[in-house]
Amino acid sequence: MTVTASTPIELVERVYASLPDNVQLGRERLGRPLTLAEKILINHLADPSVDVDRGVTYNDFNPDRVAMQDATAQMALLQFMTAGLPEVAVPSTVHCDHLIQAKVGAQIDLGVAIDTNKEVYDFLKSVSAKYQIGFWGPGSGIIHQVVLENYAFPGGMMIGTDSHTPNAGGLGMVAIGVGGADAVDVMTGFPWNVRWPKVIGVKLTGSLSGWSSPKDVILEVARQLTVKGGTGAIIEYHGPGADSISATGKATICNMGAEIGATTSVFGYDQNMAMYLKATGREAIADAADKVADDLRPDEGALYDQVIEIDLDQLKPLLNGPHTPDLAHKAGADGVGAAARENGWPLEPSATLIGSCTNSSYEDITRAASIARQAAAKGLTAKTDLLITPGSEQTRATIERDGLLADLEAIGATVLANACGPCIGQWSRPESVTGEINTIVTSFNRNFPKRNDGSANTLAFVTSPDTVMAIALSGRLDFDPTTDTITAPDGTEVSLDPPVGQVLPDAGYDPGEDTFTPPPADSSDVEVIVSPSSDRLQLLDPFPAWSGDDYRDLPILVKAQGKFTTDHISMAGPWLKYRGHLENISGNLYLGAVNAYTNADGSAYEVGHGKNVLTGDTQTFPEIAKAYHEAGQPWVVIGDENMGEGSSREHAAMEPRFRMGLVAIARSFARIHETNLKKQGMVPLTFSDPATYDLIDEDDRINVLGLPPVPDQPVHCQIVKPDGTTIDFEANHTFSPEQVEWFRAGSALNIVRQKVAD
Ligand code: F3S
Repeated sequence: MTVTASTPIELVERVYASLPDNVQLGRERLGRPLTLAEKILINHLADPSVDVDRGVTYNDFNPDRVAMQDATAQMALLQFMTAGLPEVAVPSTVHCDHLIQAKVGAQIDLGVAIDTNKEVYDFLKSVSAKYQIGFWGPGSGIIHQVVLENYAFPGGMMIGTDSHTPNAGGLGMVAIGVGGADAVDVMTGFPWNVRWPKVIGVKLTGSLSGWSSPKDVILEVARQLTVKGGTGAIIEYHGPGADSISATGKATICNMGAEIGATTSVFGYDQNMAMYLKATGREAIADAADKVADDLRPDEGALYDQVIEIDLDQLKPLLNGPHTPDLAHKAGADGVGAAARENGWPLEPSATLIGSCTNSSYEDITRAASIARQAAAKGLTAKTDLLITPGSEQTRATIERDGLLADLEAIGATVLANACGPCIGQWSRPESVTGEINTIVTSFNRNFPKRNDGSANTLAFVTSPDTVMAIALSGRLDFDPTTDTITAPDGTEVSLDPPVGQVLPDAGYDPGEDTFTPPPADSSDVEVIVSPSSDRLQLLDPFPAWSGDDYRDLPILVKAQGKFTTDHISMAGPWLKYRGHLENISGNLYLGAVNAYTNADGSAYEVGHGKNVLTGDTQTFPEIAKAYHEAGQPWVVIGDENMGEGSSREHAAMEPRFRMGLVAIARSFARIHETNLKKQGMVPLTFSDPATYDLIDEDDRINVLGLPPVPDQPVHCQIVKPDGTTIDFEANHTFSPEQVEWFRAGSALNIVRQKVAD
């Protein structure tokens, strides 16, 4: 396989060669016009003639590519190594973006990261070389921006070990965030199995203008659909308004579909995509796409499971937060200002941030810089810390060449490394700030507590880069750039004109420093070294196969109340450095969980604390999990609604499994986390009657009977009270016949290993 810094045209042509026939086959079999999502999925079915039924059938797919970021790649590649193959089966790339901590500024922070993470970067570089994987080193940029610039193409299908992989939907690709175990499936050449998604249509009419931007579209969609509204569905944007948005603007919208739990999001092919492909050196792909353009858009009359309509002419700037990305407020005193006063949220932000994979395109930065220039001309500077993270080295080099970075720095902005940084908790801030309740405003996508700087005191609002700029200049969370004024140093009241952006650079993109390393032609003598004494990397032992017995007498390690996201389960921030060491990272297991029980005196447990029922001691959840593991005591975890919402990190499933967690029962699950639990051999169940959650007390035990799970039949469970009485209840599951085999084998990877050995 030839691995290059862009998707080879041969791969694209192969996808397009089968597209028209497969689309026609799909129309005939389903007897109706097709959505774009259906066309792309049908064309990537391992067997295009099988039955498909939205929300019902599980199907096998052959994605075109795999992308992995450095935090998740470690565990994915440690798993791949155990499969025994000489190279990956599909083009794959590794992107070093998550491990760079923002503290001082781009150059210094990058140098520190290269030193601190040397062992991990060396491992990723050598394992990439060994197995024919493209390696994007530290400083090259954020995975989704690099993928958009180099690998995404209309009608393609990819999976990525990061939940914002759907960013590539901005170029018409079905791009799905998965756990490392799914990536291992695809890299080992096995099909990737997933439930055929529903399709939610978002019809866009009108066009954006003034202070409204693509980010406001997805903030409005999040408001309407909520964080659970997209679960099990692909969001397909269509209508005349869709074609008025640039490719990178579309990517912003698709990126944040992850926040509503969508499988992915996608736009139909249009001339904006063609222009972007050409501007990023992929003219041949644009020409090939033009030839099958009708099949790269939804059919007339395509049927959606749900349709929402947004008139872009009416859209106003929004700020969503804090703590959840669907809590939308209009900009201004009557919107976010009123909510802030009611809830005691500080009105003077402690910091403002532009960038992340969501909003760091050339267009985003030109709009922000246009505001900076007029502000400078009026004598204004940023009244808060203003931090900028370019999405890629290519974007950084281009915006530097075009003077845009200088415009931003002139009003006081600090430019950070081309990396995730504060978007993933890699942000070192003084305790004098984080020790107090404080507000930040970002152009990022996610705003769970502790997400950005590790402090629960920080209340984060997500919004467009334009609104971030306006708030930075005014120093007020409740500033409405469409009506309010700012007092200039000379005492005059000045208003800000709406931003003016440029979609693509006139002089073309500047590639900047070459940060891509292709694998060598012959990698047979490349050595991958993992030191047994390393605290960052640890080779894996397979999880044991199911013993054949029902699960009885399982203590409850944690019963979580309210939000139980992957950040609550396996926190990021300082723990990112242990992503390649299962035992060490298990030290964060459930540290963010809010215990549904109380102490004996009725007071609340500290977050992340509970009772070790073997000793009666109050300990942190990871300490209890370790104690149960060492005592050989398997256990169960109880979740509330949408357990595992958030990221695709399989550590949130591997850690409990490593520590002898066998079953997770919740009121509902986020899709990726539920699949990840199954992949690692755990049993995710949902209460048939959600009220059962309330019947489970701290000292109860749980029985799970009639294992293995039988597809389409509930599982019989029991709550065993300390006096031996039992309460029977039923729990539902989503195991397919193939997934039942994962359970029997102990994990999905154990099946792959067996097949490779055969
Ligand atoms: Fe990076 Fe993910 Fe943010 S890719 S920029 S951490 S949403």
